[in-house]
Amino acid sequence: MKTFTIAVIAGDGVGTEVIPQGKRVLQAAGRRHGFTLAFQDFEWGAEHYFRWGRMMPAGAIDLLQPCDAIYLGAVGHPEIPDHTTLNGLLLPIRRAFDQYANVRPAYLYPGVQSPLVRPKGGDIDFVVVRENTEGEYAQVGGFLYHHQPEEVAIQTSVFTRRGIERIVRFAFDLAVKRDRKKKVTSITKSNAQGYSMVLWDTVFNEVAAQYPQVSTESLLVDAAAMNFIRRPESFDVVVGSNLFCDILSDLSAIIIGSMGLAASANLDPLRRFPSMFEPVHGSAPDIAGKGLVNPLATILSGAMMLDHLGAPQAAAEIETAVAKVLAEGTARTPDLGGKSSTEEVTEAVLKHLQ
Ligand SMILES: NC(=O)c1ccc[n+]([C@@H]2O[C@H](COP(=O)([O-])OP(=O)(O)OC[C@H]3O[C@@H](n4cnc5c(N)ncnc54)[C@H](O)[C@@H]3O)[C@@H](O)[C@H]2O)c1
Repeated sequence: MKTFTIAVIAGDGVGTEVIPQGKRVLQAAGRRHGFTLAFQDFEWGAEHYFRWGRMMPAGAIDLLQPCDAIYLGAVGHPEIPDHTTLNGLLLPIRRAFDQYANVRPAYLYPGVQSPLVRPKGGDIDFVVVRENTEGEYAQVGGFLYHHQPEEVAIQTSVFTRRGIERIVRFAFDLAVKRDRKKKVTSITKSNAQGYSMVLWDTVFNEVAAQYPQVSTESLLVDAAAMNFIRRPESFDVVVGSNLFCDILSDLSAIIIGSMGLAASANLDPLRRFPSMFEPVHGSAPDIAGKGLVNPLATILSGAMMLDHLGAPQAAAEIETAVAKVLAEGTARTPDLGGKSSTEEVTEAVLKHLQ
């Protein structure tokens, strides 16, 4: 029987509530499809930081590397600056394993109410592809006159031809694979950012010329924000830089009804290193510890992980089970207007997996 070794970082806040539920669903899918999952739990995050002064140990990357994939909850704690948690755990993993494609599907499930009035179930169905290793999050810069009145901060974005080319190509390949609208939307800001975004546009157009069967559009990031609200049905694959798509994918998450439904994958498409799968949401300290967090984003991220690991049928079954739970509308956490607990929603998914 095939065994997948999965590194698990539940992390902080609601991460520790959703990950155990995601593991239950993955095990159930494995039982049905003849594989097992060997979970290796790493208790890294805020508690590790309070104890040892760092979010994960020095050899963390070496410990993760032999695993087939990484399953992550969320990191973030009200008493630790967000740049410490992000730069101490998430970003180093994404960079060390060259997980350059951050894939964030936005699908409005039938039975779920979008905060937008018009779209009904199935009307919103697109994927945000975010460049995940460079751009605005490259962490190049520094302080001058730090902590003095004349303090200066310099933060440099890094856009490489290689980095743009490979993420844009990934987006076009995904549009072909999805076989829906066969359209790629590029997010730019070349009117104001006359170097980095001009290179982005140039490379986008070069790659687009190699995919004549895929239609394209280029939107300034501000216009894209507007059009995610005005015409979300028109998108298929949306590709953009680290910062732009970080922001836009929160927008795409909320128009599908809840942050609690937004799954994501941090992929090394070349499969040299483990890829990482996590809900888009953070540690949600406002609801942590109450047993009310929506586990579906984490469960759907688990499905993306199985798909990546070569178990697409098991992945599809999980997605179908989630769709059924949402269509029934009986088991729902409060973010979707229900009263069910995290565990009750998971039970409903497990019931449909049998
Ligand atoms: N990938 C990550 O680990 C990640 C991502 C975003 C934010 N963060 C961190 O998380 C902390 C909180 O950040 P935030 O409040 O801006 O974002 P958040 O995503 O944690 O929460 C935003 C809002 O959405 C709600 N929400 C989020 N997920 C939900 C779910 N599954 N079910 C029901 N409601 C849900 C929360 O209750 C909150 O009101 C910060 O420390 C931040 O740095 C981490």
